[in-house]
Amino acid sequence: MTKVNLAGEKATLLPTLYGRALDAQSPDSILHDTMAYEAVQQIEFDFSTVGLRRGDDTAIALRAHCLDDWARQYLATQSECVVLHLGCGLDTRAYRIDPGPQVRWYDVDYPEVIELRQQLFPDRPGYQCIGSSVTDPMWLAEVKGDVPVLVVAEGLFMYLKEEEGKALVRRILDHFPSGQFVFDGLSRRGAQLQKLNKAVQAAKAKVYWGFDSCAEWEAIDARLHCVSSMSAFDLDDGRLPASFRMTAKVSKVFTGMKNLAVFYRVDF
Ligand SMILES: C[S@@+](CC[C@H](N)C(=O)[O-])C[C@H]1O[C@@H](n2cnc3c(N)ncnc32)[C@H](O)[C@@H]1O
Repeated sequence: MTKVNLAGEKATLLPTLYGRALDAQSPDSILHDTMAYEAVQQIEFDFSTVGLRRGDDTAIALRAHCLDDWARQYLATQSECVVLHLGCGLDTRAYRIDPGPQVRWYDVDYPEVIELRQQLFPDRPGYQCIGSSVTDPMWLAEVKGDVPVLVVAEGLFMYLKEEEGKALVRRILDHFPSGQFVFDGLSRRGAQLQKLNKAVQAAKAKVYWGFDSCAEWEAIDARLHCVSSMSAFDLDDGRLPASFRMTAKVSKVFTGMKNLAVFYRVDF
């Protein structure tokens, strides 16, 4: 068994891992992430304490599925490419997407998280882990910026301070010739409301960075161009419980609510 002793934003990888593991066990599974289920079996931790509510597992799987799809779409357009999977946690995206030899894939998270990953998941060709804070300017020097990049950041940006997050984005823009960011983000209001999010509270994590629109993200740097964005409430394919669907209905009436959590695709 593998012991975990994570706190704050690092501990927020536990509810998302658990959500994907629960989804894998469902007869109606969205992601079929059996590696997440096996990882949960190997970790010595009481996952009932992570603060998931009924339906959260489905919402987590739908979120991951959306970003997997966007990532696959971008990779299909590239003959050679780097993937930076930032704040990867214990997500098995590299195994789910299983890219070909034209892709060099980097999973980046804090050293403690990477150490844990390496105990749980096997190595694979073209795949490397980097144990560092994403906001540390040094780690990017390990990655050759000679080809386009796909940056995937799921459940990450809200845990960065705004100026650190923007500096990270600009460093990536300076390092690669072109690329795409696919990520989710909270609005400012959404970031404030995280005080009510049980999983964030259970991890004792702090949420900092919220942004309200594509235009706000494009304003980080003139090279950024938002391709599309989608409210998390529009992800439902009928599998979320009635309480989630009711919230989604209400959110359509109040614009501020519709954009609490949004998925973005941004090119450069
Ligand atoms: C909500 S979890 C999401 C993990 C994974 N993307 C998933 O969907 O399961 C947030 C992740 O971001 C990582 N993270 C937060 N701030 C970070 C930073 N400054 N540098 C590296 N990783 C960070 C945490 O360690 C954690 O693994």
